[in-house]
Amino acid sequence: MFVLRKLFQLSAVAAFIFLVSFLRKLETHEELQGQPRVGRPRDVSVGNFSWSQSGKKISNSKYDDIFNEEADIRKAQLNSGRSNPLGATHTRVMVVPRMKDENISWIADELPDLDTVIYVANDPSAPLHPPKNKGHEVMIYLTYIIDHYDDLPDIVIFMHAHRWTHHNNHLLGHDAVQMIRRLSSDYVTRKGYVNMRCEWYPGCPEWLHPKNAQESLAKQEEQVLSRSWMELFPTHPIPKALGQACCAQFALSRERILSVSLSQFIFYRDWIMRTPLSDYVSGRIWEYTWQFLFTGQSIVCPAEHVCYCDGFGVCFGGDTEYRDFERLRQTKEGYERVLRESRTRRAAGLQMGEDGQHGNNNASVIKGDNDFASLNHLEKQIDALEEEISDRRKAALERGNNPENRARECGRYWEGELRS
Ligand SMILES: *[C@@H]1O[C@H](CO)[C@@H](O)[C@H](O)[C@H]1NC(C)=O
Ligand SMILES: *[C@@H]1O[C@H](CO)[C@@H](O)[C@H](O)[C@H]1NC(C)=O
Repeated sequence: MFVLRKLFQLSAVAAFIFLVSFLRKLETHEELQGQPRVGRPRDVSVGNFSWSQSGKKISNSKYDDIFNEEADIRKAQLNSGRSNPLGATHTRVMVVPRMKDENISWIADELPDLDTVIYVANDPSAPLHPPKNKGHEVMIYLTYIIDHYDDLPDIVIFMHAHRWTHHNNHLLGHDAVQMIRRLSSDYVTRKGYVNMRCEWYPGCPEWLHPKNAQESLAKQEEQVLSRSWMELFPTHPIPKALGQACCAQFALSRERILSVSLSQFIFYRDWIMRTPLSDYVSGRIWEYTWQFLFTGQSIVCPAEHVCYCDGFGVCFGGDTEYRDFERLRQTKEGYERVLRESRTRRAAGLQMGEDGQHGNNNASVIKGDNDFASLNHLEKQIDALEEEISDRRKAALERGNNPENRARECGRYWEGELRS
């Protein structure tokens, strides 16, 4: 009797769960069919939208994924993209969103051989423009994928319209041209998804905490992330943290793009079209969502020296050597700051002295000849550091030109063949 009752209870619970999930599915189905179709008309069945449709199994993400061995193995399996056959070349396209008045002549001038697809965000009369100017680059990246899902190149590089920006890799002069020229196609093919920025800050190792209830003006997107997450990834638990290097520039292999179904991309673009969130907030959410969409990992932060070496051919020889270099660079920046501040103080002090009122008797402003001597000394030290940094950087670029060095530094099996 007891067993029967238990059984009855269990089946009631099961039926309830089934009903709820069925209703949810129905709801999603109707919602999807009711929404406007944008871009090129597409013959896709959006009704059975789900992750498994893409044939990709994605495990639940946990905060400590990056630290635990099992997760690393899972990640490695997920990331073991196939490279093109030895000696094969890769086709590449760079996708760039721009504003009407933005000057992008650097692309044609510096990268004349690169195929580009450039959308003008705020000009509906431009040959290429998104269905709506909303959601910053997210709208345009998704529009490109939706419009080219059937004829993708081997590699797609998604970049912003400005050439120099603080968030471009400093070891490549913050210069998009150098980043694109040096980006290894094999690395992108192997990894599938590659953030174009190597430096961790800002964004790594964890940046957004969807479950943070605290209001933070600096990260407005955190407050709405949980809700957005449930809308974007209804079958995935909300991760404790999301992280990747900032600023939404990345490269993808064709294979990796195709691992997400076309209907999903359409679904996400419609989400951008319809969300009441500001462009700023929805853009920020996606800035830390792309890596999950394409790798199934909530945190994707490859070691900086590996990203630089394997990704861009800047190889210092290993993590220790890379850190040594970074320390030198930071020391130099620190000295430069001190020098700048001393000069400002000196100038202010001298000026005060000239009006004969306060000036010279403030010992902390002007320490006399000693101060001069120490500033000169500081300048010399900065020059020496500059030379050392420049030499090491040059050597790293040289080292990184050799694919064998890249493989060895990054712990990859070296096949003894020249790979690009
Ligand atoms: C665009 O920038 C280039 C330099 O990259 C400059 O030579 C050119 O004059 C600029 N064009 C306009 C219209 O400002
Ligand atoms: C002396 O200079 C320091 C640093 O600029 C400043 O903080 C301080 O108020 C000055 N003292 C006087 C008496 O002007």
